[in-house]
Amino acid sequence: MAKNQTIFVCSNCGNESPKWLGKCPACNSWNTFYEEKIIKDKATNERKGISAEVRKLNSVEVQKYSRYKTGYEELDRVLGGGLVQGSLVLLGGEPGIGKSTLILQICNKINVDGTVLYISGEESATQIKMRADRLGIDNDNILFMGETSIETIEETLLNIKPAFVIIDSIQTMYSEQLSAAPGSVSQVREITSRIMQMCKKQNITTILIGHVTKDGTIAGPRVLEHMVDTFHIEY
Ligand SMILES: Nc1ncnc2c1ncn2[C@@H]1O[C@H](COP(=O)(O)OP(=O)(O)O)[C@@H](O)[C@H]1O
Ligand SMILES: [Mg+2]
Ligand SMILES: [Zn+2]
Repeated sequence: MAKNQTIFVCSNCGNESPKWLGKCPACNSWNTFYEEKIIKDKATNERKGISAEVRKLNSVEVQKYSRYKTGYEELDRVLGGGLVQGSLVLLGGEPGIGKSTLILQICNKINVDGTVLYISGEESATQIKMRADRLGIDNDNILFMGETSIETIEETLLNIKPAFVIIDSIQTMYSEQLSAAPGSVSQVREITSRIMQMCKKQNITTILIGHVTKDGTIAGPRVLEHMVDTFHIEY
């Protein structure tokens, strides 16, 4: 029961249209529309292990510490007093600006009461370990996984139940259920919404890293800005 569909997507803002448009009516950019073929197999779209839960609002226990301190005062301030538990935050910035380095330092310093899981689709365990060594990070609470499939990531999150997760980067992740390439607007949207659901249901706090690029065919974090909390690093 695969549903095949062609849509045109604005690479600047993510606006969708059934036909190609020269000018995006949503963000007024020119020549930003490109074609995406979407094959979404409904049969494999069951979200494994996640079931709907209806409960009394009054029975929901709110944990004492609803925000994590990242270990960086400036960052905590930008985030309004720390990382909200169960929230999804997008860290955007140009390639090479220091996102992965900053994130690893946050993994080391953040005051979570649970496991930290660093998922990278960009670098190997060896590369991250070498960076950790350079930064003097020796932390038994940090787990690493090199992975790009959202289906595998979802399973791992359900098994490991980490408190804090890093996804480096959104552009390298993909869903097996979509035919569009990693980094395309459809994939980036799908990945983000799937991660958001995991965060909410499992109370996992997540930082999603996104490259800001000027390349029109790669979905920049701007597409996601209306979906998640965002902060950019700039030097
Ligand atoms: N705060 C910093 N000051 C100086 N150099 C840095 C800093 N953060 C990262 N770097 C260096 O910049 C380069 C790119 O950093 P990286 O974290 O890989 O960036 P990104 O993940 O944004 O592509 C690395 O060589 C790293 O050692
Ligand atoms: Mg990086
Ligand atoms: Zn647009």
